[in-house]
Amino acid sequence: MRVSGAKNSVLKLMAASLLTPDECIISNVPNITDVQIMMQVLRTLGAEVEWEADHLRIRPGDLKSRKAPYHLVRRMRASIAVLGPLLARYGEAMVAIPGGCNIGSRKIDMHLKGLVELGAEITSEHGYVTARGSNLKGAHIILDFPSVGATENLMMAAVKADGNTTIENAAREPEIQDLAAFLGSMGAGISGAGSPIVEIEGNADLHGTSHASVGDRIEAGTIAIAAAVTSGDVEITGINPSHLGLPLEKLREIGVEVEENRDGMHIKGNGDYRSVDLATLPFPGFPTDLQPQIMVLLSLAPGAGIVTENVFESRFMFVDELNRMGCDITIEGHHAVVKGDGPLSGAEVCATDLRAGAALVLAGLAAQGQTDLLDIHHIDRGYEKFEEKLSGLGADIRRAAVDEGEEF
Ligand code: EPZ
Repeated sequence: MRVSGAKNSVLKLMAASLLTPDECIISNVPNITDVQIMMQVLRTLGAEVEWEADHLRIRPGDLKSRKAPYHLVRRMRASIAVLGPLLARYGEAMVAIPGGCNIGSRKIDMHLKGLVELGAEITSEHGYVTARGSNLKGAHIILDFPSVGATENLMMAAVKADGNTTIENAAREPEIQDLAAFLGSMGAGISGAGSPIVEIEGNADLHGTSHASVGDRIEAGTIAIAAAVTSGDVEITGINPSHLGLPLEKLREIGVEVEENRDGMHIKGNGDYRSVDLATLPFPGFPTDLQPQIMVLLSLAPGAGIVTENVFESRFMFVDELNRMGCDITIEGHHAVVKGDGPLSGAEVCATDLRAGAALVLAGLAAQGQTDLLDIHHIDRGYEKFEEKLSGLGADIRRAAVDEGEEF
């Protein structure tokens, strides 16, 4: 199966298109809820945004508003990505402070600290953060933590600053490289993306562009783990396997057959697995967005594996739901001890966030009996046609209307 374009790149490319009045075309865009919300954010700012086949056509023109409203930001916290571009282009931006979510507080202090170092004035009141500064100056910024969102916001704010900017301890995710490529195709001068030190030339005169998003490495990893937990045999295309280096290595350590090729990878599960330990870390470490999914696989591997979550402070909420399906996972602070004494049994369970929802689907595919998964709107935020793709691979999965009579 072919993966869709990367949610965690496309949302930022859409925000970056605000840096120019010209038309930008973004292709390989997944039709998911988060993209639809970001389209609404851009329209609220005054941009024209249209779907055309599998690509987006965005014409910002001269935006009528610089304010991203709460009712949209609360539904999709990545809306904060418009802060940097609006500040860079108009010298002001107002974005509702994104709330936390089910995996953590999701602070934006590093975004704001970096904008202040670029010369912006930040105020926060009535639930909104306002950034002002029409004469941003290039700066040497060192991030406390390689934050994906902060790196992206600061890259977009810096392209029009007076003078060059260096971001040290920058995030290295493939989506950062995709954003740098997008900005470069608009006329920006960016080097070092994908390394811990990103250099951004200031005073860029940016124009429209056409760009295809990278494939979604987290969707690819999710499908690879689905193949492993069902002892399946799956060809995954549309993804650069180097974007999943460590996850594929861990699958091999567990006993899954993994063959990489130019456009993706071939995954063959056999059910004869062994447990491993892993820790989530910023790229190229093991991605936190595959942590719930790999826990399902470790629940089928004899022995005990320790999974350490280093990126988000509360990304184990879903474990209680997995344990209701027969998993044996014990949480100790940032560590989860996963005992692999399957088999799993189907149950009624609830998705608590996007990746936990995907993990519960994988558990349902591996379990004996039927699983009814509720609150699947979480999954629709980031997986395009998830049940169609899985049933195309042989899974017995369908979207069911919730029986109105039942209490949920
Ligand atoms: C991006 O979130 C992704 N979202 C997340 O994917 C992903 O899990 C995360 O990067 C890490 O890879 C999008 O790209 C839309 P961070 P982001 O800034 O940018 C703390 C998914 O399922 N932090 O690298 O918010 C933060 O609270 C989602 O697709 C601060 O304290 O991630 C977190 O604990 C989930 N202050 C850690 O750093 C800040 O100013 C990593 O956050 C910024 C972040």
